[in-house]
Amino acid sequence: MTLKVLCIPGSLRAAAFSRKALQACIDNAPEGMEFETVEIRDIPFYDGDVEASSGLPASVVALREKIAAADAVIISSPEYNASISAVLKNAIDWCSRPPSQPFSGKPMAIITSSPGATGGIRAHMHLRQVLGNIGALVLVAPTVTIGMAGQRFDAEGKLTDQATIDFVKAMMTDLKTWSLKLR
Ligand SMILES: Cc1cc2nc3c(=O)[nH]c(=O)nc-3n(C[C@H](O)[C@H](O)[C@H](O)COP(=O)(O)O)c2cc1C
Repeated sequence: MTLKVLCIPGSLRAAAFSRKALQACIDNAPEGMEFETVEIRDIPFYDGDVEASSGLPASVVALREKIAAADAVIISSPEYNASISAVLKNAIDWCSRPPSQPFSGKPMAIITSSPGATGGIRAHMHLRQVLGNIGALVLVAPTVTIGMAGQRFDAEGKLTDQATIDFVKAMMTDLKTWSLKLR
């Protein structure tokens, strides 16, 4: 069987390291996983009045359906002021609303990246905390952060640093095992 994996980039910009990190996950995945990337740019700011009067916006419903249909989800986040990006937190907040919030029980992996040395580790830990709060089953290890990201990818956006490739490969193999166990 082939596992369906949904990839969510936490950055909107086209040349984002977060997107390159997701591509590295796809490039270094074992056999038996297929990938779809979903964009979060059309999701409006969470507004309880909108939710109360007209329910979830169409873009939120679409994202929730994709998460629900996936066997596993990977979120790749940048680090903004020591946390995850606002667009990503906003998308997660909408998705977390009842009923049937789709992150509950979902096998997940997370990855962060940054041009700085620490690779977004503070965003990484915040994202783990946020997802834990809504019952997502985030892979405990390895913790993959890509620091000095400007030096880790080539001009085409491909991950070239062998030590990082090895971590990403391990994460993807573990995500496959984890997802199959939890099916
Ligand atoms: C508002 C803002 C806050 C930032 N804060 C941090 C930070 O706390 N830590 C860090 O390593 N980089 C920080 N950066 C730099 C980002 O890591 C860098 O812009 C990165 O390329 C953004 O991610 P992306 O490439 O996935 O779009 C910040 C950038 C912005 C725009």
